[in-house]
Amino acid sequence: MKSMLVILAAAFTLSAQAQREASVRIYPEQGKQVIDKNIYGQFAEHLGSCIYGGLWVGPESDIPNVQGYRTDVLEALKKLQVPVLRWPGGCFADEYHWMDGIGPKENRPRMVNNNWGGTVEDNSFGTHEFLNLCELIGCEPYVSLNVGSGTVEEMAKWVEYMTAEDGPMAKLRQENGREKPWKVKYIGVGNESWGCGGSMRPEYYADLYRRYATYCRNYNGNQLFKVASGASDYDYNWTKTLMQQVGNRMHGLSLHYYTVLGWDGSKGSATDFTDEDYYWALGKCLEIEPVMRKHIQIMDEYDPKKQIALLVDEWGTWWDEEPGTIQGHLYQQNTLRDAFVAALTLNVFHKYTDRVRMTNIAQIANVLQAMVLTDGDKMLLTPTYHVFEMYKVHQNATYLPLDVICDKMEVRDNREIPMLSVSASRDEAGKIHISLANVDLKQSETVCIDVSNLRLKTINGRILTAPEIQSHNTFEHPDVVKPIPFDDFQLKEGKLQVRMPAKSIIVLEINAQ
Ligand code: AHR
Repeated sequence: MKSMLVILAAAFTLSAQAQREASVRIYPEQGKQVIDKNIYGQFAEHLGSCIYGGLWVGPESDIPNVQGYRTDVLEALKKLQVPVLRWPGGCFADEYHWMDGIGPKENRPRMVNNNWGGTVEDNSFGTHEFLNLCELIGCEPYVSLNVGSGTVEEMAKWVEYMTAEDGPMAKLRQENGREKPWKVKYIGVGNESWGCGGSMRPEYYADLYRRYATYCRNYNGNQLFKVASGASDYDYNWTKTLMQQVGNRMHGLSLHYYTVLGWDGSKGSATDFTDEDYYWALGKCLEIEPVMRKHIQIMDEYDPKKQIALLVDEWGTWWDEEPGTIQGHLYQQNTLRDAFVAALTLNVFHKYTDRVRMTNIAQIANVLQAMVLTDGDKMLLTPTYHVFEMYKVHQNATYLPLDVICDKMEVRDNREIPMLSVSASRDEAGKIHISLANVDLKQSETVCIDVSNLRLKTINGRILTAPEIQSHNTFEHPDVVKPIPFDDFQLKEGKLQVRMPAKSIIVLEINAQ
């Protein structure tokens, strides 16, 4: 069974039908690929209030905290089972000098965050604060190193500082209060080196990568996984050049893809949008699949054994900044539309786990498509958070191929979107999880899942929906969009009939023998 998703075009008859129908067939016996848990990775940049105010308030703060980390955010992130966290940027990474962020706080120099609003950064959150946070929430760190404005020596010493047991950098770390090295596997050698990371041509960056990466050493058994700065969206030449000229000197190559309405001018409001805007966003978000495929095809030419991973280490929605917020801080609200972008994108990633082994949504708090928003001592969970929480059951589970037959719709910019998105996996305990998204704003959908090859014991479900696609959580009303139990399904002649309301995301858990 090669094709995992077959979408048959049915006429788009929005007005005529009372409700839609779709069918799904899952092939549990064909499951081979494991959905790397790192597909559910996060990204935290020194940008706006992602770090300061979002994750970190400092130990002296009145806001409840554990060693300076917000207690409410820590708890929320633990529940999410964040597998990996990328830091300190983004664009910030290529202007970051790590030595400014170690040692006594009062001695740390200040700097201007040139990329993000010219805010003055006091470096109170540095290497120790980041790596200790990862230990607290139980995730792997992914450290983005400075190629754009840093030296090879500076980069080499940072790796030594974090991971060596002995030597001058280990001694400095110990003087700063950390005896044992941290475990740091993932390092990014530059970020967006074609843009904010140095405006380089791919040939020049390829040479720089080779030079910088040479001096990132494996100390005391710590094995680095080195990621080269990859392409943006449709820049296939960048991927080709890197594959040709860097090849297996890198363990991974990145890709950035945002659901964004162009880079100039208005990107559109996060909360005030039309139905057409919503469908456009889903079309743009789903275009990540053909884009990824093309990058993967190029990688396959040079690396048919798929040894080099593709890491989509920035993705998500990018809307206008909320009115009244600081320009350059990229603070945006998060509606049910964002939840759909998350659900559909994750369903796509699951299909490519033989090549795509990590992705990092941008960003974890208060920036772009965030998991949490904070305001002083208040915190809310976004609709996107709830998708990540509902979908966490897919982490490290075996991807199950499936066919989908459903209607599809033509949307702006000559794109076509299926009205149903589905993914399935089997976890280590044998439970099957099916995530389904009915993207239709008006019509419910009866989804017929062929389960004749399964002996079902129990089925549970949860649903995420809301009165409007613009619905979102606020500090005053934090639970407008949140998952609730779902049981509108029945078993009939070997078929599980699931009645999905319009604009709903459902995760089913099936216990089978
Ligand atoms: O996530 C915000 C920014 O988007 C990152 O700093 C940069 O890498 C990308 O352009």
